[in-house]
Order: sequence, then structure tokens, then C-alpha cells
Amino acid sequence: MSRALATAFSPQRRPLPAGLDPERLPAHVALIMDGNGRWARQRGLPRVMGHRAGVEALKRTLRLCSDWGIGALTAYAFSTENWARPGEEVTFLMTLFERVLALELEALEREQVRIRFLGDLEQLPPSLRQQIDEATQRTSSNTGIRFNVCTNYGGRRELVRAARRLAEQVASGQLEAAAIDEEAFAAELLTAGQVDPDLLIRTSGEQRISNFLLWQLAYAELYITEVLWPDFDEEALLKALLEYQGRHRRFGGVQTSR
Ligand code: FPP
Repeated sequence: MSRALATAFSPQRRPLPAGLDPERLPAHVALIMDGNGRWARQRGLPRVMGHRAGVEALKRTLRLCSDWGIGALTAYAFSTENWARPGEEVTFLMTLFERVLALELEALEREQVRIRFLGDLEQLPPSLRQQIDEATQRTSSNTGIRFNVCTNYGGRRELVRAARRLAEQVASGQLEAAAIDEEAFAAELLTAGQVDPDLLIRTSGEQRISNFLLWQLAYAELYITEVLWPDFDEEALLKALLEYQGRHRRFGGVQTSR
């Protein structure tokens, strides 16, 4: 966290590694960054040090995805269930998010990253919300990678919110119930207007979706690695992308579409 993206983002873009097909990269990668606590415990450090190291891993991953031409990265930073963690850890995470944003905003602007925060943001501390608003607004007309940070996010909550918004439109006569189709539903999600993730990467070996992007991951390829999130590096990302490119995506049909 002490090093800003300004230093993490090298002026030269990292070239696409040999073996990766630029035509078959995922347009959108989703990330469940698990294992920060275990990483810290293995080193005899407090859990929160794992989160600090996790931020470095996220910066690294964002930079690589941007350099390699991936259009969007969505990271699960804080779930609606994470409030159940010890109070000091929650406070640490909120302060960490705020500091990261303050430190990295200039670099995000310069690197053309479009950052957005998806989730129930009203419940976040006001100073963090202010930082989020500023970062969102200052990067909104950028043209590079879309970077979605899911914060106080829950997939079921997002679906309920979409259903309620549609119901309100029907109740007010703006919308016919029969006009509600997949497209209308997706337009009420927090990811409206963005392509669905093609690939979900989950670190630290757990084989769960954990209430993440329940609608959007319908056809995503799932990639689970034993690597703990703070150790996730270029080699680990490359491995995930190579495996993705080796899969045959059928979207429920019989033909290989990629
Ligand atoms: C889970 O590890 C990971 C998190 C709670 C994510 C923390 C968030 C970041 C590293 C990035 C924040 C970035 C921005 C841009 C604001 P865990 O604590 O569940 O690990 P464990 O399963 O080993 O206990």
C-alpha cells in the first residue's frame, strides 16, 4: 500500500506472454481474492497484514489485465457477510480501502482505468463514500480497463434490488410485466451495460461462489487455484488464462464457440 500505482504501473506495458492468444482473451475477469488471513497466519503476522499484501496483489493483477488487453476486472473486496468479522478487522479494511483510493487515484486517472464500486455503498463510512464518489467521477470518462470493486456487495441482494426496481416500474405503469425479459432484468443490475465475466478466478482453494455475481457468472468458466491471494502474481494469472483458453465454451449448446 505504501507504493502507489504510479510506481506499480510501469510506463512500458508488459507484453502479452508467448502462448496466450490475444484473440481469445476473456473480455471480463472476475476475482474472489481469498486467503489473505491464511497468508498472514503462515507468516506469524496479524490477519490485517494479509489484506495489505492483498492490495499489492490486486494492483499487480489490474496492471497485468490492463497491459494484456483484458477489458474489465471485477474484484470482490467486501461482501455483505463480511460485516460479521471482528470490528477491528472491518475498521481496518474500510480505512485501507480509503487510503488505497487516495494514494492511487492519480495513477488510475493517468492509466485510463475506469473504477466503479458496486454494492450498497450507503452503509459505508462517509469518508470512504466521499473518496469513492471522487474516484468514480474522476475516472468515469477514461477509456481503459473497467475496474469494478464489489464493496458491501451481495449477489442475492443485487437480484432482490433488481426485482424490486422492476416491480416498482410495473406498479407505476411504466412497464408491462410481460416486457420483463433477461435483458430488462440485467439492465437493473449493478453491472448494467457491462459484459458478463467470461472467467472467475478464486484463490486459496475454496470451491464456492460465495454470493458473488450470481446472475452474471451464469456462463463463466470457473478457475480455482490453491495460491493464496497475496501470492497471486503474473505466473498465476498466466496459468489461469492459459487454462481458460484451453477450455471449450459451449454456453449450453453443443458447438465450441471459442
Ligand atoms: C479475503 O481474505 C479477502 C478480502 C476480505 C479482500 C480484502 C480486499 C482487498 C485485498 C483489496 C481492496 C482493494 C481496493 C481497491 C479497495 P480472507 O480474510 O477471507 O482470508 P482467509 O480466508 O485466509 O481468512
